[in-house]
Amino acid sequence: MQKVRVGLLGVSWWTEVVWPGFSIAENAEITWVAARNGEKARDFAEKNGIGRWTDNYLELMGAPDVDAVFVGVPNYLHEEMALAALAKGKHVLQEKPMALTVEKAIAQKRIADHRGLVLMVDQELRLADGVRDLPDMIESRIGPLRKVVIGLTLAPSHWEGWRADPKLCGGTLFEMVIHELDLARWLWKRDPLKILAMGDDVPGKDLTILLDFGHGDSALIDVCWRSIGFRIRAECYGERGYILREAELPFGAGKQTIVTADGREESGFEASVQGQATFKRVLETFCESILSGCAAPISSDDGVWAVRMAQAARESLRTGHAADLSGVIKPI
Ligand SMILES: NC(=O)c1ccc[n+]([C@@H]2O[C@H](COP(=O)([O-])OP(=O)(O)OC[C@H]3O[C@@H](n4cnc5c(N)ncnc54)[C@H](OP(=O)(O)O)[C@@H]3O)[C@@H](O)[C@H]2O)c1
Repeated sequence: MQKVRVGLLGVSWWTEVVWPGFSIAENAEITWVAARNGEKARDFAEKNGIGRWTDNYLELMGAPDVDAVFVGVPNYLHEEMALAALAKGKHVLQEKPMALTVEKAIAQKRIADHRGLVLMVDQELRLADGVRDLPDMIESRIGPLRKVVIGLTLAPSHWEGWRADPKLCGGTLFEMVIHELDLARWLWKRDPLKILAMGDDVPGKDLTILLDFGHGDSALIDVCWRSIGFRIRAECYGERGYILREAELPFGAGKQTIVTADGREESGFEASVQGQATFKRVLETFCESILSGCAAPISSDDGVWAVRMAQAARESLRTGHAADLSGVIKPI
């Protein structure tokens, strides 16, 4: 099988989460790893059998045995890293958020399109165990969809380092809730018209977001830092019933309830949302898009829209009014 040669930019706890899946992707070979701290890069390379390591990101991006990079560095560096890699002709698997402003996200997308390179964003819920089958389940079991409610509990209630600085991470909206914003748009299969947000976009403070998809269709995203655990819950209400899915993050057990109009109730479900299978699928999907030329299922357009929703929610928090997205000219 043809393999895409991938270089990892950054080594951290998050690299350890994605590595078990990345390392077994059948159409990828991880050829390089780079970290600001060269010892970390060397240790990670030696431990995992990666041939080359460096403390110089540009050296990795320029290497002839790298076709694509994974951007696993802090949020405020995403744009810079992606632009540098695209300039070297490398495909990019970008961590979320794609950038810290819509304009910067659009600029990345335009350059990738212009150069004919794949730019996919790691908003992995779309490909995650326990989540990826939801659109099909909604359609076949309870559809059409009528309402989505997404709950997120986050603990511990403080962030450190660059995450503690909203200018560097983008606040909770860009660092965390961007996943749930993307999930809501993906489940509704269309763009929201308005966003209303209440609460605070800072770690430790609760946040509620309402997305209006028109025709009475909406999604509610509720973020609570004052409860227990790190957990996502999706409630999908349809004309013929409802599906509740809940998972402990990153690897905990999932739960499901399906109730249909005929009174039947089912439960039982297993999923590790951020487990090995999810990240194997993420890297394989990215590489498949490079090898086949087919559009990536979490495209740069999706990345731009996720940033647009986060930015609009922030605007709504500032003004106290709903932010209007209906007049958005799509950069697509
Ligand atoms: N998709 C998801 O669900 C998910 C979940 C968690 C995290 N993430 C994303 O993963 C990425 C990494 O997060 P993290 O917490 O793992 O980050 P991190 O530990 O702070 O840093 C990751 C890497 O970036 C390097 N780095 C830090 N600051 C730098 C700078 N100023 N210049 C150059 N390199 C720098 C670090 O350097 P050293 O080598 O010196 O340590 C390390 O190699 C973020 O984009 C985050 O949003 C995604």
